[in-house]
Amino acid sequence: MMWAGRVFRAALSGAPCGHRAQSALAQLRGILEEELEGIRGAGTWKSERVITSRQGPRIHVDGISGGILNFCANNYLGLSSHPEVIQAGLRALEEFGAGLSSVRFICGTQSIHKDLEAKIARFHQREDAILYPSCFDANAGLFEALLTPEDAVLSDELNHASIIDGIRLCKAHKYRYRHLDMADLEAKLQEAQKHRLRLVATDGAFSMDGDIAPLQEICCLASQYGALVFVDECHATGFLGATGRGTDELLGVMDQVTIINSTLGKALGGASGGYTTGPGSLVSLLRQRARPYLFSNSLPPAVVGCASKALDLLMESNAVIQSMAAKTQRCGLGQGGASGGEEAGEGLPCMPAQALAPCLRVLPLPTPLPQRVALGLGSLGQGLPACPPPSSLWLFLPFPGTFLCKCSPSASLGLHLCLCWSLLQTWPQTLGHMPIRRGCDCSTAPQLPVTPNLCPQIPQ
Ligand SMILES: Cc1ncc(COP(=O)(O)O)c(C=O)c1O
Repeated sequence: MMWAGRVFRAALSGAPCGHRAQSALAQLRGILEEELEGIRGAGTWKSERVITSRQGPRIHVDGISGGILNFCANNYLGLSSHPEVIQAGLRALEEFGAGLSSVRFICGTQSIHKDLEAKIARFHQREDAILYPSCFDANAGLFEALLTPEDAVLSDELNHASIIDGIRLCKAHKYRYRHLDMADLEAKLQEAQKHRLRLVATDGAFSMDGDIAPLQEICCLASQYGALVFVDECHATGFLGATGRGTDELLGVMDQVTIINSTLGKALGGASGGYTTGPGSLVSLLRQRARPYLFSNSLPPAVVGCASKALDLLMESNAVIQSMAAKTQRCGLGQGGASGGEEAGEGLPCMPAQALAPCLRVLPLPTPLPQRVALGLGSLGQGLPACPPPSSLWLFLPFPGTFLCKCSPSASLGLHLCLCWSLLQTWPQTLGHMPIRRGCDCSTAPQLPVTPNLCPQIPQ
């Protein structure tokens, strides 16, 4: 009842208290306005587009009549609106209810949570798995629970923000190696020999750069210097590798990567949720110590049902994975990332827009741009402050036609509209022959064939 006492005293003391609160609020508003103005001024303002349909290659957006083409989802396999995935979500909702109103260890674990964890472990061929509300949470939970001040973590400088934040939370010694730079990693591993445990942490596929981590070399160095390997597979799970297991399968090191974190919120149905999979004892420790697991609600049954069905579909048949891989090949994608190394981007369904940009520089801007096209592509112009240019200017082309583009604040919207519109115009003929290869000299590469009318109506 302390609060009641405070309210009572405040009422007795009259206006000054309210007055001070108001001036504090006015001060806060001033600070916030200045901060917001700074974001606008920096060109990194993000606004939300309100989608009124399911996620997919064609969507409906509030305020726009007719459908628009969607370039902006991580719906790599198109499973987020797959009928069987939706049905599975509905069944789980019916049978297990809307939610658990609890964290897992109090009274928030249902049979479907245990089944999904077992399925994830089976899918990745690991001993056990633990679910989190998101992969951001999985990354926030792992390092602090696992590493002590006696240990060291060695992290690629372009790792995802959630890995960076997760590492910040732990007390281990921190080493940051240059992006994909194995010589630098080796130097840091040598320095880190004095610590008890060494954990190398990397994204499997770097979505902003279109690179794939050189896991064979990383695992080789790890074994040479007695380190463990952690890989974040958010942009690989479900579609990289012959059976979609991810980067470790693609590069033949499934038995050498110790810990995997990944998401259910991209290729695996796209709802939400994340997980860690790896040694049984590690998963047991996470159930005791990982704070986002201990102090946040259980995944809702419908989400569990959808993800579980997405995994079933992938484990039953390779068809969707192979179709995606064939498209990736056919489009000449995955031939090289920003770093241009041998390992860069192989098999990854994305291409560097900065590599395309010089090829497109003479294309006329599509003006006037039909409003709905502008909106459909508009998010291309959205700044991603998390991604320093030039590493953030990428065009993704996930199956079955869902395009996704991430661009840097410095990117010209006009260029992107132009680029994407050109691709739409000429898809799929152009992409099969696109002169985008590692080492392509864009100044001499042939221009994309572009029809004179750049702005026809998009088919419904
Ligand atoms: C590499 C990587 N890790 C983690 C996350 C976070 O995943 P989630 O959306 O499940 O929190 C993302 C999401 O964009 C990601 O790209």
